[in-house]
Parts: sequence; structure tokens; C-alpha cells
Amino acid sequence: MAKTKSAYFCQSCGYESAKWLGKCPSCNQWNTFVEEVIEKADAKVPSWKTSNNTTRSNKPSQISTITSSEEERMLTGDQELDRVLGGGLVPGSVTLIGGEPGIGKSTLMLQLALNIDGKKVLYISGEESEQQIKMRAQRITEVPKADCYILTETSTQNIFKQIEVLEPQIVIVDSIQTLHSAHIDSTPGSVSQVRECTAELLRFAKETDTPVFLIGHITKDGAIAGPKILEHMVDTVLQFEGDRHHIYRILRSIKNRFGAAAELGIYAMNNTGLREVSNPSEILLSQRDEELSGIAISATLEGARPMLIETQALVSTAAYGTPQRSATGFDTRRMNMLLAVLEKRCGFKLSARDVFLNIAGGIKVEDPAIDLAIVVAIISSHEDIAVSSKNCFAAEVGLSGEIRAVNRIDQRIMESERLGFDKIFISRYNLKGLIMDKYKIEVVGISKIEDVFAILF
Ligand code: TYD
Ligand code: MG
Repeated sequence: MAKTKSAYFCQSCGYESAKWLGKCPSCNQWNTFVEEVIEKADAKVPSWKTSNNTTRSNKPSQISTITSSEEERMLTGDQELDRVLGGGLVPGSVTLIGGEPGIGKSTLMLQLALNIDGKKVLYISGEESEQQIKMRAQRITEVPKADCYILTETSTQNIFKQIEVLEPQIVIVDSIQTLHSAHIDSTPGSVSQVRECTAELLRFAKETDTPVFLIGHITKDGAIAGPKILEHMVDTVLQFEGDRHHIYRILRSIKNRFGAAAELGIYAMNNTGLREVSNPSEILLSQRDEELSGIAISATLEGARPMLIETQALVSTAAYGTPQRSATGFDTRRMNMLLAVLEKRCGFKLSARDVFLNIAGGIKVEDPAIDLAIVVAIISSHEDIAVSSKNCFAAEVGLSGEIRAVNRIDQRIMESERLGFDKIFISRYNLKGLIMDKYKIEVVGISKIEDVFAILF
């Protein structure tokens, strides 16, 4: 009789060890090892056609002899999702979607299941009942365009049985942490279960050319729960993020075997589900008639997409001994660095002032080109002088107060022009290679922070 095999797994990173360890050698976490059965003594239940998988053997073929069929992508009917996937859904691809609870992962996937034109979709849920899903579906759309089936099941063996009968063209699993495979004895959501269930679904996707979506929970620190290896196994990893108190949600691709990573889709959550936002700048710029101090517009790039974003700063006298520094949507350490540059290089006395920073729309910006707008917003608030709402900024600020060049400057200028700005401030080093006659907007090249202050204040 075959013996039951077990091993110890780090529940934080998925490190496998033959014996129990107090501290994980891979991620240095304490007390994370749990024993999991990795092979059951008599697990004879077949998973996705494991039997014929083992008999099939592949031969090497010369790369020049392989015919590349320009893989046909399926359009999902959701332009933002198509863009993030790199131009549609690739047959046989496995996509993992991660995000905080309540951010809208299930809504996004159900919306896809209902709206993809003329396809047979199977939506497998281990989290909600059929009635709950039906209620949500009614909110999203009245007449589904797709042939959508709901299955509430968590055993992969039963799921594959149903798949063989139904033969869906797209499979959605909500969520991978609720599935369990009879091959493994540990509880659903544990590292080895998640890994095994993903492997079975992966095998299914590759053999039948069916695209599969997996919803994944994330941990406290924002990583997708379960082993890191999960992200290596799948073809595409998407992250759904946003501030739950704001209506905007961002779908970001972190890894994509079939397209550019760092692509971005924007949605607005309203009472009929998620609505695509195809023109982000127009909503991210708040509508205002009067010019206020402490506001500057930045021409940033998210993924390959130019976006004009409003940065707001409030500088006030510190009420307590230690001044407060807080930033929403921007790295606080980077804000402190910019404040130090202003203090040391430009002589502004900010050390005894509270500084608050906010990026409009609840969006997180990592593009360094936002630096200049942030610096201008801070000084505008400090001096209480408004910056014209027809000006925008796109440059990185260095430690010595120098204005550094940023990438894709042409795209940023074009977007600013399209949105009706009169003047854009960029680094002098970005001017090289630009054909100035092309733009109607005035492009100002600067090399030091002081230059921009001399013009504006
Ligand atoms: P959900 O998709 O259940 O989140 P997740 O699967 O990521 O946990 O999203 C639930 C949230 O979305 C919930 O707080 C309510 C909100 N929502 C709307 O605002 N409008 C809608 O039409 C739907 C379906 C949900
Ligand atoms: Mg959900």
C-alpha cells in the first residue's frame, strides 16, 4: 500500500521542508510551518485527465519549423480589460486577479461572464450562493449577452466533471483559495492546496485552449495569498486596486506573457456594477472656476497611458511641536525628500510646518514625473499664490534640485494639449529631439527648481 507523504510548508511564502522549522529560511518569518499531506495513500480520483497527460510525450522541434499561428484573441467586451490583457483574451491562458476584499473582483468577473458576446461561460463560485450571484447579475445587466452558467462547487474533481459535460469556452473561478483537490489532504487555502488546484486548472487550460480566470485573495501586506509560486505558474497576474471610499478602481497588469506589463485599466464603481472610464484625465481633474493655491496638475503616465492628475498640498503652521507630514496616493518618504530639497536648495522654511499632500481621485502614483507638480503645489500653498489652472508639469526632481528628464515626453505633451492646457513645464534635457512647431501648447524647458519658481511666483 502506498504511504501517505507529508511535508512542511511555510504558509507565508510556500517554502517546502521535510522537517518542521521555527523560522523560514526563505522569508525569515517565525512559526509559519504547517504540516500538509502532499500525497494521499489512496487518491485514485483522477484530476484533469492526468492519465493521458503522462502517456503523451513531446518531441523537440526546430524553431524555424514551428508555424506561428497569430494567436486569435477573444475580445471580452470590456475595453479596459482587453487593453490590460494586451489586446484581448488569449486561448488557453490562465489569468490571476488579486485585490483587497470588497474591491470588486467578483463584480468584474461576473460582468465579463455576462457581457462577452455569444460565448459559453462557466462561473464557479466557492464564496457565494447561486441566489446571491443572480441578484448581483440583475444589478449589472438585464439581458446577458453571453451564455452564462453558475456552479457553486469547491472540489476540483467535481468541477472537471461538470466542465466535461458543459464544455464552456471560458472558465472563471472565484476564488482559488476556496478550491480543494482530493489529491491533497490539507485544508482549502493552504499552500499545497492552492498550488495543486492551480496546477490542475493550468493543465486543463493548456490542453483544451480554454482561458481560465482565477480570483485570488491578498494578504495583509497586499501580496496575493498563497505561495509566490502561484504568480509564476499563471500567464498573467492582474491587480485590482483602489480606495474603497472612492468610486475609482484601477486594474493593473503586473505580469503578462502576452502583452506589456504595467498596462492599466480604469473603472468607476456605481450601483450597476463597474463602468469603464476611457477618458481618465477628464474626471481626475476637478472642475473648478476659481484658482486656488496649493494645486498643481501633473502630466503623468500610468502604464502606457498619459493621464493628467491633480496634486493638492496644504502647508500650515504646525499646531504641535513635531510637524505632521502625510501623503495620500504618494510615497511619504519621497515627499520628505522633496521637502528637504526645497529647504536646503531653495531656502524655504518648511521644517516647522505641517505638510499634507493628496492625489485627487484616490489614485496611487509612482511615476517620478509627478515630482515637479508636487513641489509646485507645496510652494503654492506655502506662499499662498495660486498657479494658473492652464499650466501643467512633467519632470522629476533630483536631490540637488535639478530638474530631470522623464520618458515619453511627447505623449505627455500631446495629452496636455488635447485637454486644453496652455503651458507645460518639462526638463530642459527633454527638449532635445522635440519638434516644437508640432505643438500649440507652450513647452517650457527648465533645469533647476528655482527657474520654475521665478516664472510662477
Ligand atoms: P465584490 O465584487 O463582491 O468584491 P470582491 O469580490 O473583490 O470581494 O464587490 C463588492 C463591492 O462592490 C460591495 O462593497 C458593493 C459594491 N458594488 C457596487 O457598488 N455596485 C454594484 O453594482 C455591485 C455589484 C457591487
Ligand atoms: Mg468576491
